[in-house]
Amino acid sequence: MTKVSIFASGNGSNAEALMQKARELKNVQIAFILTDKTDAGVIARAGRMDVPVKIVPRTGSKEHHEQQILSLLADYQVRWILLAGYMRLLSADFLNSFSKISGESSRVVNIHPSLLPAYPGKDSIARAFADQVSAGGVTLHFVDEGMDTGKVIQQRKVPLMPEESLESWSEKIHALEHQMYTEFLTSLEES
Ligand code: GRF
Repeated sequence: MTKVSIFASGNGSNAEALMQKARELKNVQIAFILTDKTDAGVIARAGRMDVPVKIVPRTGSKEHHEQQILSLLADYQVRWILLAGYMRLLSADFLNSFSKISGESSRVVNIHPSLLPAYPGKDSIARAFADQVSAGGVTLHFVDEGMDTGKVIQQRKVPLMPEESLESWSEKIHALEHQMYTEFLTSLEES
């Protein structure tokens, strides 16, 4: 059984799509959802799906916070971390320690609603829309200690149609995120 943890700080629509997909998979299990926010929408979503939630707010240093998370990952024998709207950068020390626990490097993945390296960080869809780009999209990438800078696994485009609203374009991008992330989770059945 491949154990996965999803890290999320907010709404949790990607986390929910992943939890739903995991129900169909035989060899992949969501060990727990990790959140750093006591009021994150993802907490109720996980409750409805019967997936354990670990709420670990940052109260002291970054190092202490990451140590708390690492001990949970070790306790649950987590092999992959999927970031889904987790609003903190992970340190190089955290990533190195997790590779030791998980037995391999590059087992931390993020999804981002732009064609990286364009529009890293927050409000990517709105910024790309304000620039009236011809296409935006979604990037699935490995995580390093930078902000949305790790090696790209896959990118798919979502064209911005003439006269299209921000709302309509955002919906398409979020739907594509859910599709790409659940496909990735399915691929872990073989890992
Ligand atoms: C998604 O757009 C994700 O790509 C970005 O943060 C957003 C999280 O949305 N990193 P949700 O919490 O999964 O609904």
